[in-house]
Amino acid sequence: MKEIRLGTIGTGVIVEQFLDQVVRTEGICLRAVYSRKYDKGSALAEKYGAGQVYTDLDSFFYAEEMDCVYIASPNILHYPQTKQALLSGKHVLCEKPFCTTVKQAEELFALAEERGLLLMEAVPTAFLPNLNVIREQLPKIGKLRLVQGNYSQYSSRYDALRQEQALPNVFNPAFAGGCLMDLNYYNVYLNVALFGSPDRVQYWPNLHSGGVDTSGILILQYPGFVSQASGAKDTWYDSVFTIQGEDGFIQIPGGSNGLRQVRVVTKTTDETFDLQSDPARLSYEVRRMTDILLREDREAISRLRSTTLAVIAVLEAGRKSGGIRFPGEEW
Ligand SMILES: NC(=O)c1ccc[n+]([C@@H]2O[C@H](COP(=O)([O-])OP(=O)(O)OC[C@H]3O[C@@H](n4cnc5c(N)ncnc54)[C@H](OP(=O)(O)O)[C@@H]3O)[C@@H](O)[C@H]2O)c1
Repeated sequence: MKEIRLGTIGTGVIVEQFLDQVVRTEGICLRAVYSRKYDKGSALAEKYGAGQVYTDLDSFFYAEEMDCVYIASPNILHYPQTKQALLSGKHVLCEKPFCTTVKQAEELFALAEERGLLLMEAVPTAFLPNLNVIREQLPKIGKLRLVQGNYSQYSSRYDALRQEQALPNVFNPAFAGGCLMDLNYYNVYLNVALFGSPDRVQYWPNLHSGGVDTSGILILQYPGFVSQASGAKDTWYDSVFTIQGEDGFIQIPGGSNGLRQVRVVTKTTDETFDLQSDPARLSYEVRRMTDILLREDREAISRLRSTTLAVIAVLEAGRKSGGIRFPGEEW
């Protein structure tokens, strides 16, 4: 590919944040927009310079003016829409969480491979330069014992839930909602990206009567250390991610979504690292994914795929242990 000709699904805030970076990035341009509502689609297309607006999903997937789809729909639609995009011959960038089960994820990656298409989960943490800083600094703090991540952000949509006015998608099991699938997802991703798959997973959710978690604590047991991932959409707190080793600790102010800075403290040193001069965290994601697509870097895709699969396995095990079921799940 010389240039990625992109089409988008969804018109939420994240799509605009993504497209803000697409227009700044060489080698990728927006060609088509899908929305259920023509007015919303055409407003987005006009703002970011797309030539075509679709309100019919089948026509969108077969659109000849695009070769890659960015999917930012409610979580439950990621699997069927990614599948349809691949079957229509398009590369896919799918928002986090990639899908709801390992079985679905494996099927999608196998389909992409079979069709020679490129498929990636659009999860900002994976592409942040400070992720590699953490990896490089880990040996300084010695044998790991405790990891704690807290990502808490009071959701404006929680107000509607509290007042029993509505069941927003993000809190609706029919859309694979809940805090573990949303904010706490970032803690899970960071754990898996740094430490791999845990041996055991247990989730203690605060469940809403609608069936999903509005907050909760996930415990990941690794050989020799334990990690606690807390997430909340029903309260707020100063989000932070800390890794404690026998010889020091690493602290990430702001937490797992953004990795703003990496503070590394040992008995004799206290240093802060930051390789992210661009405050727009999605700039790194869009630039790196564009580069991977243009170079058809299958090795990078394979590494990202392994992390995505391991993350989905943790989410699935966590949901099972916490009693969070989505439509059609029978366990
Ligand atoms: N990477 C990040 O930092 C980040 C941040 C926020 C969200 N996300 C992810 O992005 C995805 C979208 O999040 P969101 O908060 O924008 O979700 P959302 O508001 O529930 O829905 C996203 C879009 O999907 C369409 N949609 C809404 N309800 C639908 C329904 N019932 N059936 C079909 N389409 C529907 C809407 O577009 P139209 O009305 O135009 O069709 C809407 O703009 C989620 O998977 C979320 O996890 C990622």
